Amino acid sequence: MHATARALGSRLALLALGLLLGVAWVHGSGASHAAEPPAPAPAPAPAPAPPAPFVPSAERGYRWLTTKAYVPSSIRQADVDQLWQAWPATLKAQAEQATPERRRELTWARYGITPRPGEPDKPLQYVVDEQGRWSMSCLACHGGQVGEQVLPGLPNAHLALQDLMDDLAALRKVQGRPSLLGDALWRSVPLGETHGTTNAVMFSVALLT
Ligand code: HEC
Repeated sequence: MHATARALGSRLALLALGLLLGVAWVHGSGASHAAEPPAPAPAPAPAPAPPAPFVPSAERGYRWLTTKAYVPSSIRQADVDQLWQAWPATLKAQAEQATPERRRELTWARYGITPRPGEPDKPLQYVVDEQGRWSMSCLACHGGQVGEQVLPGLPNAHLALQDLMDDLAALRKVQGRPSLLGDALWRSVPLGETHGTTNAVMFSVALLT
């Protein structure tokens, strides 16, 4: 018992000595630091870059409108190519004898679709993806033609959306394909009544839902 207490006592003494030495060393080194010139202040963290200011760009807007499909595709290239088969007899005969290029011109003209400025084989009013899916864009109604000049942003005074959907429905009939829900829908909620006007307000309602 006595021996253990003495051993403990000498250990505590060692510990105390160690602590004292340690305190002296920390204090000493602190003092020698204080003698040195102050370390240079650390460089301030770089301020986060401010967000790039929005720069309007007609070129960028046009690129998005003509390359990004914002609504699901409603038409396929193969159908556009065959639409003439559902036309009234005279027109159909004319298309039948035409070159593929002329036939495309006749087709686009019938529905108020124009070539893009500088890209005559692409429709201004639709985005066409690599699988030939056509998606209507804002330029369907907001891209038009005066005389020979096609102008993105001009109201499309030739758009004939109802004729386009009616002819697509007729084409399905001619080809013996089943009709789609939209075939009946677009008769009860007309897409337009004349060339150059559309039921745009109802589109907005449909899009918002
Ligand atoms: C189905 C046809 C149609 C489509 C598609 C369409 N619009 Fe319109 N838009 C209209 C009509 C019609 C008006 C009303 C024009 C008027 O009253 O003079 C209009 C008006 C506008 C106006 C107001 C113009 C003004 O001078 O006050 C803007 C902006 C606009 N549309 C943007 C768009 C955008 C963006 C898209 C594509 C997301 C789009 N539109 C798609 C038919 C359409």
